Amino acid sequence: MKGVNHFLVVFAFLALASTLASASDPSSLMDFCVALNGPKNAGMHSYFVNGKFCKDPKLATADDFFFSGLDKAGNTSNAVGSKVTPVNADQIPGLNTLGISLVRTDYAPYGGLNPPHSHPRGTEILVVIKGELYVGFVTSNPDNRFFTKVLKTGDVFVFPVGLIHFQLNIGKTDAIAFAGLSSQNPGVIIIANAVFDSNPPINPGVLTKAFKLEKKVAEYLQTQF
Ligand SMILES: *[C@@H]1O[C@H](CO)[C@@H](O)[C@H](O)[C@H]1NC(C)=O
Repeated sequence: MKGVNHFLVVFAFLALASTLASASDPSSLMDFCVALNGPKNAGMHSYFVNGKFCKDPKLATADDFFFSGLDKAGNTSNAVGSKVTPVNADQIPGLNTLGISLVRTDYAPYGGLNPPHSHPRGTEILVVIKGELYVGFVTSNPDNRFFTKVLKTGDVFVFPVGLIHFQLNIGKTDAIAFAGLSSQNPGVIIIANAVFDSNPPINPGVLTKAFKLEKKVAEYLQTQF
């Protein structure tokens, strides 16, 4: 009986370990897997795998691992006053299967906002290069604890995978941050867009009840994104 119990404990541990291991991108079985973009390279039909198809490694070049242009500011002339420039496996095909990516975010002076959003597949580590940002994230139910900080040039903050977070420029100048993410394709869910600008729209009755709004306010919000 004792042997059986030990077996069960080990089995439970291994099951837990494999669950934890699969919480990030799958690990590589090769040095790299430079992505072939688009179905045109995949034969007559479009195939989807958990990632992208690999180029023959013999045909890979340094350019497959290269991106240029993160010195350029994103255009922040938009409703929220921020612009994210991503560098993920879509921009650098050599990132495919490597479990990491990068963004540059620019924030307009006086209130440029990277609005509340989450990355379903990636933890984010952000460093401020210029300016002053009010940042934070909120934990899951039931606590919904808010972790927040004001960051200045050189400061670093972490947003754990999946949690809703934001950055707001509270300075008089533009602000710049770079961030690494623990997925080649971390994904972005911008809360306001997902809720009020889904395609097709969510029935306003759902939003009215969920957000404790008058129906006309819910309908108004659905026209604003
Ligand atoms: C920035 O975006 C705005 C709004 O789309 C546009 O009018 C403007 O020309 C853009 N500026 C640059 C430098 O691209």
